[in-house]
Amino acid sequence: MRRHIYINKKISPYKRTIQVSSDKSLSIRTVLLASQAVGVSKISNLLESEDVLNTLKTIKKLGINYKKKKNYYEIYGFGLNSFNPRNNTVIDAGNSGTLGRLILSLLIKTEKKIKLIGDKSLSKRDFSRVIKPLRLFGAKIKSKNNVLPVKIHGTEFIRPINYLENIGSAQIKTACCFGALNSPGTTFIRAKKSRNHTELLFKYLKIPIKVKSNKEFDLIEIKGLQQYNSFNYRIPGDISSSAFFIVLTLLSKNSSITIQNVNINETRTGLIKILKKMNGKITFKNKRFYKGERTADIFVKSSKILTAINCPSNLNSSAIDELILCFLVAAKAKGISTFKDLGELNKKESPRLNISIKILRMMGIKVLRKNNNIKIYGKPKLDLKGNYHIKNFSKDHRIFMFSCIAALTLNGRWIIEDKDSVNTSFPKFIGILKILGAKIN
Ligand code: S3P
Repeated sequence: MRRHIYINKKISPYKRTIQVSSDKSLSIRTVLLASQAVGVSKISNLLESEDVLNTLKTIKKLGINYKKKKNYYEIYGFGLNSFNPRNNTVIDAGNSGTLGRLILSLLIKTEKKIKLIGDKSLSKRDFSRVIKPLRLFGAKIKSKNNVLPVKIHGTEFIRPINYLENIGSAQIKTACCFGALNSPGTTFIRAKKSRNHTELLFKYLKIPIKVKSNKEFDLIEIKGLQQYNSFNYRIPGDISSSAFFIVLTLLSKNSSITIQNVNINETRTGLIKILKKMNGKITFKNKRFYKGERTADIFVKSSKILTAINCPSNLNSSAIDELILCFLVAAKAKGISTFKDLGELNKKESPRLNISIKILRMMGIKVLRKNNNIKIYGKPKLDLKGNYHIKNFSKDHRIFMFSCIAALTLNGRWIIEDKDSVNTSFPKFIGILKILGAKIN
């Protein structure tokens, strides 16, 4: 089967209402937390993408059963530390950094040897960021150069930790929170602000957690060894998947879109804040609360005049997966935009900072880079004429989708490789684009 797609035409104006796929962070977290709960949890609207299916396969390999029902998944938990794998079990996190890092933290007390592997992209990513705190809890972990394969051997001698997480990574923070579940006493985490789904889920599940916040950090206290009951949860839409349609609409003429029932947790809405500062016409409608999270319908209208931004780097974490889309908007905005402290972007499924700069330059956009800071010289009248071949991006789903949005809003003849990459997070992506009228072959 052909692995690439062709896009040779801008998308025509549209006015539509859509729903995007369910939130990936919440899908992975709820499955993992259900695997540690006492009783049968029901999770509806679970994202059925490769990262989440790999999460289900992983808990199954560790001895936790689940069943797919008509509209939901049932997960049969037996409480904390009830994984029951055979010795030397191999688990495969596929492409998912979140699954790989979080599952290790649930294995610190599993007294069996487990080997964690992943695909080519995940095998290049740094695991020292979770190995370090998990060793402090007491787990024995082996890995060459802090990359996969990682071997973990849990122990009954677990102690709580006092940890400073100063990267602003929700995966590291969550690994510490999950480790705390199986630790006696109280774990203290001082974490630079990042998405807080784990803390909200702990509160909802009545796991003893206290969070105090200041401007830059959250101080988290978790009392360990407290069993919690199974739960029901309905996963809302993913703002990171919505982001592609938000930017598509902003950059298209005479178009508007409503994206229904999206998670608009403050720690995830950096993209919206950035685009509004750039004059993007975006509003939240029907705001609701759901089990500690906030959801809304997102309404977006084409924006004729987009303006450059001097992006405050304290928005980076809440827009971490969407920053490359902000760069695309900056390419079409009036003026010179600046983005700073982008080092974390090169630690994703691909070196996303390097690759997105390469694509912008390929499109004729001037991008100046100094260390991890960039300046993008916007061209409001940008209209491409050439041929663009997007390849060698480590099958990074977000680079694939970013390239599709560039092609559909800026013209030119595009070949974009590795279309199956979207299955990681958003299998319905191309289907929704086609419903909006995109011509994709
Ligand atoms: C995620 C956290 C972020 C994000 C990733 C999902 C999570 O990674 O990029 O897509 O669900 O916790 P970092 O923790 O590395 O910032």
